[in-house]
Amino acid sequence: MRAATLLLLSAITMTATAQTKVSSAPFGKLPSGEAVTEYTLSNPQLTVKLITFGARVTSILAPDKTGKSGEVVLGYDSLDSYLADTKTYFGAIVGRYGNRIAKGTFTLDGKQYHLPINNAPNTLHGGTTGFDRANWTARELPGGVEFTLVSHDGDQGFPGTLTVHVTYTLAGEALHIAYSATTDKDTVLNLTNHTYFNLSGSGDILHDSLTINAARYTPVDSGLIPTGQLAPVAGTPFDFQTPHVIGQRIDSANEQLKLAGGYDHNFVLNGPSGAIPHQAAKVTDPNSGRILTVRTTEPGVQFYAGNFLDGSFRGHGGMLYARRTGFCLETQHFPDSPNHPSFPTTELKPGQTFHSNTTFLFSTDKVLHN
Ligand code: GLA
Repeated sequence: MRAATLLLLSAITMTATAQTKVSSAPFGKLPSGEAVTEYTLSNPQLTVKLITFGARVTSILAPDKTGKSGEVVLGYDSLDSYLADTKTYFGAIVGRYGNRIAKGTFTLDGKQYHLPINNAPNTLHGGTTGFDRANWTARELPGGVEFTLVSHDGDQGFPGTLTVHVTYTLAGEALHIAYSATTDKDTVLNLTNHTYFNLSGSGDILHDSLTINAARYTPVDSGLIPTGQLAPVAGTPFDFQTPHVIGQRIDSANEQLKLAGGYDHNFVLNGPSGAIPHQAAKVTDPNSGRILTVRTTEPGVQFYAGNFLDGSFRGHGGMLYARRTGFCLETQHFPDSPNHPSFPTTELKPGQTFHSNTTFLFSTDKVLHN
């Protein structure tokens, strides 16, 4: 992109950010006595709530096609519920390595590392005490909040002290998430946000129409570990290159869908994974008219259809979250990359800074923003 265009884009973003109000309030205390703080970002279009526990998105209020604002993410009203739930990762930043690492083992610089097995026989989302369970430090920025976490050398078995910053900024109809990280030893990382969206506000997500900008995906084994193949989506239920209703093919007789109980797969995004986020996915909800567009600099996106939600979680306003009542679009590097040298690398070395950006853009079918 030309420098003049970039300058114009950043000027537009700054103007939009200036309209965002940021406030904070206590959200409860951890068993250790440590305080958890809630931040509210609001502007005329959106209201976003974040908490320091897991650097989570707990709520997004977005307008429907009539202009009425409503909840579009799954989450809890109390800290106790977040503490009790070790399964869903609602709204959290997951790390140090989001998604799975086969058998909790990888080799880096000739040395083998072992991680906790919390999704037998594999490691999921960084281990038993991943970044979703940490109480991040926070500071307000114009239009947003920066969360910081220092993950010590050996944390959950990973090498190197990793310092991570995640900044959420609200600008107009866009929630921007910027990640950066540095390390003091060679390590691996894969950071993502695990928000579950329900653009109708309730009910299942099967009627939503989804587009994913991916010609290939990474098929998995029975433990949801990639086989290493980058398989074409064409002619399969994984082809979302043109809009498809999520429920249309989710239960079809396809081996990959059977293994995962529905969609729970990493898609290989088309186009450059560079400094400027490009479109990864778009979801249109016919009930509310809400449209979610996801843009990222990451090479992949995990589309998870909430197959493991089982109605045992009671969230916002007492709502029970049953199977497939929320979907995630987790922008990321590919699962198990440390064990797949052919995948884009997830290694970070001292002296390097990891950067990644994702934007969730909300619009309605009255006004399209593409
Ligand atoms: C990710 C995984 C799913 C599931 C959820 C959390 O999206 O891919 O299999 O474990 O996290 O419940």
